[in-house]
Amino acid sequence: MSRNITMKDVADEADVSVATVSNIINNKDKYVSPELVTRVKNAIKKLDYSPNKIARSLKINKSFNIGVLVPDITNPFFAEIVKGGEQLAVKNDYQILLYNTDGNVKREKVGVNNFLNQGVDGIINIAPRRKDSEIERYYTKNNIPMVIVDRPIKLKSKYAGVVFADNYVGSHEVAEHLFTNKKRKYICMAGPKNVPNVQKRIKGFVDGLEEYGISKEKIDVVYGKFNHKSGHDLMQILLNKFQMPMSIFICSDIMAWGAIEAIKDNKKIPEDISIVGFDNIYFSELLNPPLTTVNQPKSELGLKAVQLLFNIINGKESSKEIILKTNLVIRKTS
Ligand code: RIB
Repeated sequence: MSRNITMKDVADEADVSVATVSNIINNKDKYVSPELVTRVKNAIKKLDYSPNKIARSLKINKSFNIGVLVPDITNPFFAEIVKGGEQLAVKNDYQILLYNTDGNVKREKVGVNNFLNQGVDGIINIAPRRKDSEIERYYTKNNIPMVIVDRPIKLKSKYAGVVFADNYVGSHEVAEHLFTNKKRKYICMAGPKNVPNVQKRIKGFVDGLEEYGISKEKIDVVYGKFNHKSGHDLMQILLNKFQMPMSIFICSDIMAWGAIEAIKDNKKIPEDISIVGFDNIYFSELLNPPLTTVNQPKSELGLKAVQLLFNIINGKESSKEIILKTNLVIRKTS
């Protein structure tokens, strides 16, 4: 069995120092000439050298793992965020460890502790359901680099950052789009009441309609869960409660999917019931009719979260709060 090829073998083959090989392998080759980089990469290929990751991680005290917590692994919104950050993670030789919390705060805490015990260099916590006031205490006390995604929250820890989309502006735009001078019942079908995003979306929608003279009291807000069944059940309740035409802002596409399926042939979309969702997950354009929705930049949320986490891990100065824009995607339900 051939002996393990070492970094020294690669250096000798490429006629460079071991330090140069190490810099190139650890992506620190900013000051290495392209000619030398090519020589080293050719030597690595010729000798079939693969840096011993465990040895490397022990030497530079890194696990090359990122722990990612998601509240609902079945909701494409979260999967699209993770996928957006994965490419950058893999490019830096990191692997992503996923933990599904089912939106349960006890499971969030177990997930963070599991990651700490397993050994991760940082944690990305997507849409944590713990109260804002508790996140600092529960999730940033270990000085483990952490990025909170999809939550507009202020954090004091220098090891923590946040990345989210502007829920308020996106929801205000829904009101501008749905308002009409015709007699309509305006409704917000929201997710769980305790989720800060939900409150910001409701406020953006209500404030937007108030600018057109629709008073807050005239707007019905119904709360549910971010899933298909909840959207379906709430829509059935609304259909029984209101005979007049409705304009409904549904705070997540996965709920809007269930709501659309609850509307039978006796009601036309958008004439009798106009609907706008939130997230623009991949199948929203495939619904019948295709869903008008607010696009959250899911892939960019994931990429920015990993970039910010790497900056914190590597002690690189950068903004600890990144707010991304949403955009309205008009299809056939409004
Ligand atoms: O669809 C799940 C919802 O939960 C998304 O809107 C996301 O922003 C999170 O709040």
